Amino acid sequence: MSGAHANVEPFHAVEINRLAHARERRGLPVIHMEVGQPSAGAPAAALAAGQHALTHAPQGYWESDALRERIAALYQQRYGLALEPQRVILTMGGSGAFVLAVAVLVAAGARVALARPGYPAHRNVLRAFGVQPLELDCGAATRFQPSAAQLAALEPAPAGLIVTSPSNPTGTMLEAGELAALAAVARARGIRLVSDETYHGITFGPAAHTLLEFEPDAIVLNSFSKYWCMTGWRLGWAVVPAGLAEAFRRYAANLFLVPPTLAQHVALAALEADTELQQRVAEYADNRRELLAALPQLGITRFAPADGAFYLYADIGHLTSDSLVFCRELLDATGLALNTGRDFDTVQGHRFLRISFAVSTGETRRAIDWLGDWLRRRRTG
Ligand SMILES: Cc1ncc(COP(=O)(O)O)c(C=O)c1O
Repeated sequence: MSGAHANVEPFHAVEINRLAHARERRGLPVIHMEVGQPSAGAPAAALAAGQHALTHAPQGYWESDALRERIAALYQQRYGLALEPQRVILTMGGSGAFVLAVAVLVAAGARVALARPGYPAHRNVLRAFGVQPLELDCGAATRFQPSAAQLAALEPAPAGLIVTSPSNPTGTMLEAGELAALAAVARARGIRLVSDETYHGITFGPAAHTLLEFEPDAIVLNSFSKYWCMTGWRLGWAVVPAGLAEAFRRYAANLFLVPPTLAQHVALAALEADTELQQRVAEYADNRRELLAALPQLGITRFAPADGAFYLYADIGHLTSDSLVFCRELLDATGLALNTGRDFDTVQGHRFLRISFAVSTGETRRAIDWLGDWLRRRRTG
């Protein structure tokens, strides 16, 4: 038997992660910078709220109206936007929000544009639903983000465009003017906009803008996984136009019934934990600074600006013809786990490396030492 979705592409990050864990089981040290997750867990006050809820709250099927209202208030707090809580759909992580958006909005056979390099699940989920991903070649010239000119040039106009700012794997962002220009082209050409805002809250210069500021009918996806450090709790949300909310809610109930109950209690408290979370972002900023200073001294000079998220996407085409082999060898020789760009870009990704720096600054410094020593040994050996 072979289902319609059986041929999905592998995540190389998962393979590197598996090799890294096998190494740890042999008692060898590892620094995990291969997977896109904060090494620190949910904030302390959120964990305490979870402990309390485990004892005092029922753990049956449940959706928190208070959480929907608090998420709506977050749009006022972060972007100065008033949002009806009914427009917030709670989901199983940002992943669940994306599956829902594709299922509700896009017909099989349609074409949907997205950046290459980009988050691979976007491309793979589109394919799984019979939708054709239209990869826009986004290089250093547009800071690895799609431009309004690229969108305007697509003939015929695609059904949708997915934007991810800050981006995974590059961390680069779309500025207000660029978002406004994309929204104007999309509106003129009837292109539905989906904005993956999973990394909002983790920025190192100006804060991120939501696409809702420029296109009130955009579908916005977000998650408690990254800024709130709740990857394993599996909670995210979509903001949808009022007229689509009922369709989203109905389909969400059929796919998942409700999001995890305990995670909703934890998330409600995590939304008040900005002091602790801002300290973590400050640590990512330190790690980013260390890497930006050290990599050029190791001969790695071409990387994306990393305005946000916690990734450095570096061109190592002068060091290897296949960054997956490079990552396996580096892990084997040193215990430093990084990811290949092949997950994010099937054309140029073999030249690139993604370093996830949501670890401690101590680990970042050790990682730089291990990488430097290995590169020197490799050159001379
Ligand atoms: C751009 C982007 N969107 C969505 C997700 C999905 O995350 P989650 O399902 O944990 O919210 C990720 C995870 O790495 C991501 O990088």
